[in-house]
Amino acid sequence: MSDKIYDVPAEWAKRAFLDDHAYQAKYEASVRDPEAFWADEGKRIEWFEPYTVVKNTSFDPGHVSIKWFEDGVTNVSWNCIDRHLPTRADQVAIIWEGDDPSEQRHITYQELHDEVCRFANVLRNRNVEKGDRVTLYMPMIPEAAFAMLACARLGAVHSVVFGGFSPDSLAGRIRDCGSKVVITADEGLRGGRKVPLKANVDAAIAKLGDVEVDHVVVVRRTGGAVNMEPGRDVWYHEAADLVTSHCPAAPVEAEHPLFILYTSGSTGLPKGVLHTTGGYLVYASMTHQYVFDYHDGDIYWCTADIGWVTGHSYIVYGPLANGATTLMFEGVPNYPSASRFWEVVDKHKVNIFYTAPTAIRALMQGGDAPVTKTSRASLRLLGSVGEPINPEAWEWYHRVVGDERCPIVDTWWQTETGGILITPLPGATRLKPGSATRPFFGVVPEVVDAEGRPMEGACEGNLVIADSWPGQMRTVYGDHERFMQTYFSTYPGKYFTGDGCRRDADGYYWITGRVDDVINVSGHRMGTAEVESALVAHPKVSEAAVVGYPHDIKGQGIYAYVTLMAGVEPSEELRKELVTWVRQEIGPIASPDLVQFAPGLPKTRSGKIMRRILRKIAEDEFGNLGDTSTLADPNVVEDLISHRQNKK
Ligand code: WT7
Repeated sequence: MSDKIYDVPAEWAKRAFLDDHAYQAKYEASVRDPEAFWADEGKRIEWFEPYTVVKNTSFDPGHVSIKWFEDGVTNVSWNCIDRHLPTRADQVAIIWEGDDPSEQRHITYQELHDEVCRFANVLRNRNVEKGDRVTLYMPMIPEAAFAMLACARLGAVHSVVFGGFSPDSLAGRIRDCGSKVVITADEGLRGGRKVPLKANVDAAIAKLGDVEVDHVVVVRRTGGAVNMEPGRDVWYHEAADLVTSHCPAAPVEAEHPLFILYTSGSTGLPKGVLHTTGGYLVYASMTHQYVFDYHDGDIYWCTADIGWVTGHSYIVYGPLANGATTLMFEGVPNYPSASRFWEVVDKHKVNIFYTAPTAIRALMQGGDAPVTKTSRASLRLLGSVGEPINPEAWEWYHRVVGDERCPIVDTWWQTETGGILITPLPGATRLKPGSATRPFFGVVPEVVDAEGRPMEGACEGNLVIADSWPGQMRTVYGDHERFMQTYFSTYPGKYFTGDGCRRDADGYYWITGRVDDVINVSGHRMGTAEVESALVAHPKVSEAAVVGYPHDIKGQGIYAYVTLMAGVEPSEELRKELVTWVRQEIGPIASPDLVQFAPGLPKTRSGKIMRRILRKIAEDEFGNLGDTSTLADPNVVEDLISHRQNKK
């Protein structure tokens, strides 16, 4: 916590869309009469048929139903492209910066139109129709955005799977939503290293058994050798040569699904978060405009991967809906050198830069020199997303990267929320390092106690949202029960975020992190249950419990307690084998940082693992374990403490 306050810089007060007074007035209007507010705001996108119904939402447990602009008809691809052509055909829509600094592309709105239409025609020729699901497993190349927009153009539903996930994880996601078409590339390229995307798709399809994938569309990125299955696999560039650059944008209802994005929860397999068309686009576009104070001509860069929701809402849909110039970066922050981010900023004259605290902390460890040797004069605004930003990292970002000139918008949101919910606005909000500050328009946060009672004034508890906003997820794909159970049963009638939160006397929100069994590793969400089930799938493991612990760079690291099968001896080799195993089962982001072999886990007499105790031990807080009287065998705790793993 920090009690420093940063005022809105004078030049920001002049240029921004909204000052503090305007924020307050607009916020009050948005929650006083949401219908009227959103009826107006919905017009920021174009509708083929206007809506007459604005908000039709219920958080009633058992009957949760969320519809916005429901009788309106539109198309996301039309709004992100065609609508801008009369005024922006020659404006750059996407600046692409390759992994290798010598590679870049500039794609105008006209070119974007032509590429997306071609991609849509390639998909149409493979029987992709309105409502069909298409899985994308892509590197950060413009074709990934073309493919997303091509799906939206046809009314098909994309499911982007992060390129770092394993064939197993990919297979599970293809199966869950029943994709008949997969789009990938021969190989990805990150930090000079190749990622075998097509080979992983082949392996995933082999695991699907009798679930059939009819077509795999392969974009050529590296030119590396890949296996092409005749009849199933097609090179994108060959298929694209045979089609035109015209393809009508299918009119779809506002609640027509736009995409599915899998995310981890506290239990079970990842859930398919479903977002729909109208409300999502209105919300992504509005937040992108106000949070980043985006004006015509600004160069905007969000460093996320399109495999995450940040890439969906703030690389592709929000910026393009606003006719912005959005930069897409294939590489990593420290390749070929620790100055890469800032060299890209200087090269493309980036004005708005949005990244994650884990990247800031990693760069901060490299010292100031790689930053200060670059100019960064174009930068005006900095953003942060993905996890709480510690005040030290915030101060460094502000002082060294932003030369004390650029406000920082610390944006709190989730895959489920579709867009930013709690955030400063750069011309309106005085900043406190480490606080996401205040709610965006139409957002009604509440801090509740364990019984679900809303608390007043300064307080600490769990964060819920009391009413719907247009960007909210609509359901868990194929499992509305699970949707209601996960988000609306803990505090009936309210959306439960899974986050803990403090509100200070100024009404500022400070997110304190997850209160469920979800951990946040380098801004990536991981269910501890997923890592546990990967571990117990190993033949030598009998039981596993996974918790998070504080990690200097990643925010949280993954700490695994593993009980081995009878007769199996613990060893360093086995430790490495288990880490590799989890990498292969889920992907590198799930690799345990520390593995402790534990002859027994702390359980209640009814057999429930007491994670609270495991968390404390992993955090080295074992002096303060709390009540251990319900443990079936109190002796296991001593053993766990004496064999705990060293953090350094
Ligand atoms: C969880 C959501 C939203 C895009 C990236 C992550 C944490 C996110 C912040 C922030 C504190 C944050 C929360 C949230 N989180 N942004 N600015 N301050 N915590 O999306 O993978 O769905 O994860 O990330 O714990 O619940 P996600």
